[in-house]
Amino acid sequence: MKNALESIRAEAGRLIGAVQDAQALDALRVRFFGKKGELTAILKQMGGLSAEERPVIGALANEVREEIDATVRGAAKRLANAERAARLAGETIDVTLPGTRQDLGGRHPLDIVLGELKDIFLGMGFDVVQGPEIEYDKYNFEMLNMPKSHPSRDTQDTFYITENILLRTQTSPMQIRTMLAEKPPIRIICPGRVYRSDAADATHSPVFNQIEGLAVDKGITFTDLKGTLDLFFKQLYGPETRTRFRPHHFAYTEPSAEVDMSCFKCGGKGCPMCKGEGWIEMLGCGMVHPKVLENCGIDSTVYSGFAFGVGLERITLMRYGIDDMRLLFENDLRFLKQFKGA
Ligand code: DAH
Repeated sequence: MKNALESIRAEAGRLIGAVQDAQALDALRVRFFGKKGELTAILKQMGGLSAEERPVIGALANEVREEIDATVRGAAKRLANAERAARLAGETIDVTLPGTRQDLGGRHPLDIVLGELKDIFLGMGFDVVQGPEIEYDKYNFEMLNMPKSHPSRDTQDTFYITENILLRTQTSPMQIRTMLAEKPPIRIICPGRVYRSDAADATHSPVFNQIEGLAVDKGITFTDLKGTLDLFFKQLYGPETRTRFRPHHFAYTEPSAEVDMSCFKCGGKGCPMCKGEGWIEMLGCGMVHPKVLENCGIDSTVYSGFAFGVGLERITLMRYGIDDMRLLFENDLRFLKQFKGA
């Protein structure tokens, strides 16, 4: 029996020491310690031993059992460590590898110029607001003093959703929305898309961008309008830029004017850019019509205001010397990449 125990000890030590996976280890554990295991079988025979032999063999059997048990535990630990090491090795990230390159786009020229324009007006104390592109006829025309039969609607044919809901033809309805929602003093600009049923050519597009401006307070005069717009053009095109106000007609301003800017190319001498005029037409403006103030519940005997509307595409074309507005909408990367980092 002693021999049998010793050979179990040797066999177990050899097998368990060489085991390579948890399943095999478990099988060995059963082989020696299980109900029908080799060591169990020997222990069962202890009853047949003599009184002298029993304590000696018993002690040896215990020793062998503890030794095998320790070997099994040691092997389990070894396997767990090996498994962990293998997993960590598999998960290693090489932080020195080059990353996946993110191909960053650039800002669109319209967005670049709009950013400058917002900065200029924010600096003068204006807020930037936004409004819906799908608009009520009432706000786009009627409350701006352009009733259904008004001839000035002809130049602003648009896309109708219903008889009274349309794609806005101008950002001017934001004057109405702002004055209905807020009490003076009001100072806002509103950039956004507008629509007209025009065919696209070098200077027209069925969708383009405008920026509306509105200031309403006690004592606002035409001088404020002139000063504000003159400063605006000087900041955008340089301090030597001059402005010229020509009388015009808009239904929602009285008096109304169109503003020309001295040609940034020739400084006013006349060149192909300004078609020999020395001046370039830039925007429409005027003093808010008392009827429009009253339409919005603002007392026109107490308050006055100025308004203007300017096309963003026009300003952008001038800014970069681009000769065709369609370039701004065609998403041609060869064109757009020229503005990257601008
Ligand atoms: N809404 C005009 C247009 O689309 C531009 C304009 C002119 C806006 C005069 C104004 C203004 O606020 O006072 O052509």
